[in-house]
Amino acid sequence: MRTPATSQTVKVCVNGTWYERLIDARTLLVRLIREDLNLTGTHIGCDTGNCGACTVLCDGQLIKSCMMLAVQANGADIRTVEGLAEESGPLSQLQQSFKEKHAVQCGYCTPGVLMNSYDMLQESLDLTDAEIRRGLKGNVCRCTGYMNIISAIQDAARKTKEEQTLVEKI
Ligand code: FES
Ligand code: FES
Repeated sequence: MRTPATSQTVKVCVNGTWYERLIDARTLLVRLIREDLNLTGTHIGCDTGNCGACTVLCDGQLIKSCMMLAVQANGADIRTVEGLAEESGPLSQLQQSFKEKHAVQCGYCTPGVLMNSYDMLQESLDLTDAEIRRGLKGNVCRCTGYMNIISAIQDAARKTKEEQTLVEKI
């Protein structure tokens, strides 16, 4: 016999907006994001922590949201792929580089890869190809588009650096 579900209230800040929901305590964070908050950019690939499609930032930490209960994220500041660009604004530099370098094939892995890449670029704009490869280990692209993904990340790093230099000069 199945144990009856226990409901719990969860409050999270996603991409700058606070949400409060009464959910089954067993709800995974990825389900809360997709099904309760309707932010379907975060994908579910394997549901076992292997593919990285569900990668988001939780309190600044890169996490696989299929490996975390929504109640564990209570009070957390979460950033999903929808939060990379301003709503109805232009794409972020990283997204633009992915577009220009054709780093998207079927696109299913892309939200997770973008979040991981965003996190890597927050750490450093001088990443080597080897460091990017190492950083992407937890994100599987079944289309094997890795070469273009690496060149998109390098492109975004270079353009972000150029922009920073320009700002410093002003
Ligand atoms: S769906 Fe979470 S790692 Fe694959
Ligand atoms: S672009 Fe298709 S799985 Fe990565």
